[in-house]
Amino acid sequence: MMNWENRCNQALEVVKNSVSAPRFLHILGVVDTAVTLAKNYDLDPLPIKMAAILHDRTKELPKPQQLKLLEEVKPDLMTLKSPALWHAKTAHYLAIHEFNLPEEWAEPIRWHTTGRENMSLSDMVLYVADQIEPGREFYDPMDMKLALQDIGSAMKKILQAKLMYTMQKGQPLHYDSLGCWNWLCTANSRLYEA
Ligand SMILES: [Fe+2]
Ligand SMILES: [Fe+2]
Repeated sequence: MMNWENRCNQALEVVKNSVSAPRFLHILGVVDTAVTLAKNYDLDPLPIKMAAILHDRTKELPKPQQLKLLEEVKPDLMTLKSPALWHAKTAHYLAIHEFNLPEEWAEPIRWHTTGRENMSLSDMVLYVADQIEPGREFYDPMDMKLALQDIGSAMKKILQAKLMYTMQKGQPLHYDSLGCWNWLCTANSRLYEA
């Protein structure tokens, strides 16, 4: 039987040593926010906590190491051409292969940069927590209020801002993000009830 509390502490140590101090603070903010949201939506907080600790695990790895991991992941062409998206796929890979996370525990890590169609509640919790944690430059406590009441609306608001920002920079929109957007626009107005 795996002692997951110990695993969380081990993962925190490893992550602390592989990212900068500001990024580690961001990660702690995401962990807190994600656990609060998970409890609010009656999810088991432990898998979310583990995913939150590991979600940016590979973001600051040296490029050769990232590329090596990418070879294992075999991402789609659009992801391959967007370095900002790499770490979600490589961190997902390491969560499973370095920390033995069950597939479903690791899944939110994989989608935390693009989102996707038919996101699970856990996927949304990590995606939203990553964007609204208190250390973010544009921190707004109202975002947390919305996320606690209606995670689907919070997700939609964040994704809209991200898509618009990406378009303004003249960069391509990943089709998983577009799939997510279309799904959010057509799904039931309240996807998951608190
Ligand atoms: Fe990230
Ligand atoms: Fe992050």
